[in-house]
Amino acid sequence: MQNIRRITEDIFYVGASDRRLALFENVYPIDRGVSYNSYIVLDDKTVLLDTVDHSVSREFLENVEAALSGRALDYLVVNHMEPDHCSVIAELVLRYPGLKIVGNQKTIQMIKQFYSFDVDSRAHIVKDGDSLSSGKHTFTFVFAPMVHWPEVMVAFDSASGILFSADAFGTFGALSGNLYADEVEFEKEWLDDARWYYINIVGKYGVQVTNTLKKAAALPIKMICPLHGPIWRENIGWFIDKYSTWAGYVPEDKGLLIVYSSIYGNTANAVDKLAAIAADKGIRNIHMYDASKTDVSVLVSECFRYSTIVFASPTYNAEIFPKMEALISELKAHAFQNRDVAVIENGTWALSAGKKITEALEGMKNIRFLVPTISVKSSLKDEGLPLLEELAEKAVESVNA
Ligand code: FEO
Repeated sequence: MQNIRRITEDIFYVGASDRRLALFENVYPIDRGVSYNSYIVLDDKTVLLDTVDHSVSREFLENVEAALSGRALDYLVVNHMEPDHCSVIAELVLRYPGLKIVGNQKTIQMIKQFYSFDVDSRAHIVKDGDSLSSGKHTFTFVFAPMVHWPEVMVAFDSASGILFSADAFGTFGALSGNLYADEVEFEKEWLDDARWYYINIVGKYGVQVTNTLKKAAALPIKMICPLHGPIWRENIGWFIDKYSTWAGYVPEDKGLLIVYSSIYGNTANAVDKLAAIAADKGIRNIHMYDASKTDVSVLVSECFRYSTIVFASPTYNAEIFPKMEALISELKAHAFQNRDVAVIENGTWALSAGKKITEALEGMKNIRFLVPTISVKSSLKDEGLPLLEELAEKAVESVNA
């Protein structure tokens, strides 16, 4: 059954949500699912903006057919050529033989790499700043390279004031009837997913996101229609501010994050003691994670969120404990920077985790070490408490800075 949703007089949502997928990109454990958004404009010419993942292709095709109501599809705008948005292109070409595909040179090249149909004969190639009119609507294409792939562009419709923003301003989480961010408790129920999505999907490309935000600031945007998650039509500035913070690698919240690995509980005991001392010194925003229990992508997102971070790890095979090593590696891959940190290591006979974590963090930009690495030999003893006291005091200064 079709499930199209009217957005404006002649613009409709034709996407769908998937709650069965366990791992988005076969990496991220999306317990709340994900939506693949697509939009159709019924103007003098009909225009579809992006398609969907194959998992929801049946519902999507029914939606497109219902929205068109017997009309042909004239244009498919491909803002992003990643398969979660472009898996249905060949099927659309079969169903609508006159279809023109709108994209830039890179998009068209990628379509040829993914598909075998004759792309050139139906390609409508645009350059940065070019426009396409469908009648009442005029779409201006603004290139947004690396948000999240190099071919990405966004499309601004001057008639409706809608920015079709590709992955930007998207979030994990399936849609459950409510289509708009102002219809849900976004800050309470969606913001963590939005941050998790942003940091892990495009967090590496903060500079490019910032450049795109600057370009977008010049547009009279009334609504943002992303490719994942709810549509924005109210309080848009609040969400753009979040993006500016994330893209600028600025801590979103002042707070102490403690991420640890612990094999038999002794490192956990040390950081529990640290957390208690920090709480006694007045820090209220303390968050603690066992890296073996929480997906590394969530830990990366939390590291981007907080101002002050303690990494604690045992030495394991003369290396960093594997789960902590994965986190440090992922932080590097996502251009983690600009934080106050401290390192606690543990080991019974050959401490080396602290040195390796420190070296990795030193390779990242603007990482400030609150104290020298604190070494625990097997288990925390009284003589180690002054070092935790000192770290807690420095954490207080960092959180209150
Ligand atoms: Fe939602 Fe970069 O794809």
